[in-house]
Amino acid sequence: MKKDITCRADIELLINTFYEKVKKDNLLSHFFEKVKWDRHLSIMYDFWENIIFQTGSYAGNPMNIHEKVMGKMQLNKNDFKRWLKLFVNATNELFEGNNAELAKNRAISIAGVMQNKFIAANKKA
Ligand code: HEM
Repeated sequence: MKKDITCRADIELLINTFYEKVKKDNLLSHFFEKVKWDRHLSIMYDFWENIIFQTGSYAGNPMNIHEKVMGKMQLNKNDFKRWLKLFVNATNELFEGNNAELAKNRAISIAGVMQNKFIAANKKA
């Protein structure tokens, strides 16, 4: 039986594990080539900590950031599918429980909103 996500250290482990997969992934790695990892990882830890523990640690706007990033990227459905697969796999490898389910469900719903917004915008352009 695996443990649930119960603290910031668990979130850091989840996000680090997820990005190790992303960096090796043939579809996704190139999107992250210019990322400043120290900064990005600490933002991602705050983002997920805020989702799971309502800490108020993240006050950014991922939709705006992705609009800038994704305007240049031409993402497609398979990219989002792969992103979610890696996130769900990383979560399942490490954790189980209500918070693990919450993380996966939020990832699925946010990815759905992004997909609708950015893929539709790409098609129009
Ligand atoms: C194929 C799908 C995705 C790609 C290629 C992608 C790529 C990126 C990139 C390149 C950045 C900017 C990193 C930087 O230079 O600072 C970023 C930021 C971020 N992404 Fe994604 N992303 C994807 C999906 C998602 C999803 C589904 C979520 C949420 C569940 C998410 C959450 C975030 C957050 C919170 C940030 C930081 C925003 C900030 O700086 O405040 N991303 N993403």
